[in-house]
Amino acid sequence: PARLAVLASGRGSNLQAILDAIAAGTLDARVVGVFSDKPTAAALQKVPADRRWAASPRDYPDREAFDAALGDALAASGADWIVCAGYMRILGEALVRRFDGRMVNIHPSLLPLHRGLHTHARAIEAGDAQHGASVHFVIPELDAGAVLAQARVPVLPGDDAATLAARVLAREHPLLIASLRLLASGRVREAGGQLMLDGQCLFTPLRL
Ligand code: GAR
Repeated sequence: PARLAVLASGRGSNLQAILDAIAAGTLDARVVGVFSDKPTAAALQKVPADRRWAASPRDYPDREAFDAALGDALAASGADWIVCAGYMRILGEALVRRFDGRMVNIHPSLLPLHRGLHTHARAIEAGDAQHGASVHFVIPELDAGAVLAQARVPVLPGDDAATLAARVLAREHPLLIASLRLLASGRVREAGGQLMLDGQCLFTPLRL
């Protein structure tokens, strides 16, 4: 099974979807650790204590020191893949490069639209007819790495950020599982910003 390290800062519904898929036998993987910048994150409680790592950035002198500690813990976990699932802290360049091509993130927008925060409110404000979520490889530039797969939802009249977020989240879980299944199978890889699926360049994200 693929060894997954999951980074999460909050609720952990995407982590729960991963754990559920593993338990159901639909994802051949093992969560070797959950890593958080928020020691009180609900996500941490979803795995046994010996698979939790959490630290407060304010206990470190700077971003580089925090990232180095996180990176050492990730390396020690022996993870094949590092999955950012609601990890809300920016990852410094050195940390990203350390796990180059092995780190993915789920982001709640149709990238390249709406990088960063408050994506649902921004999609409504922009008058987008469609919104959704993307699974992409992590590079030093925020939310800018190659997109593996996306799920789309309509923006409906009367939506606010909360109703739209809920519609997107329901699609995030299967999107993430399907993406991880592809990664775990070894069929997908990223090199130099280019995505390969079954040895072919993937020019547009998969629609899942
Ligand atoms: C998800 O919607 C995820 O896409 C988003 O945070 C939420 C976490 O939910 N991630 C980001 O905004 C990353 N910048 P969860 O904790 O229930 O999985």
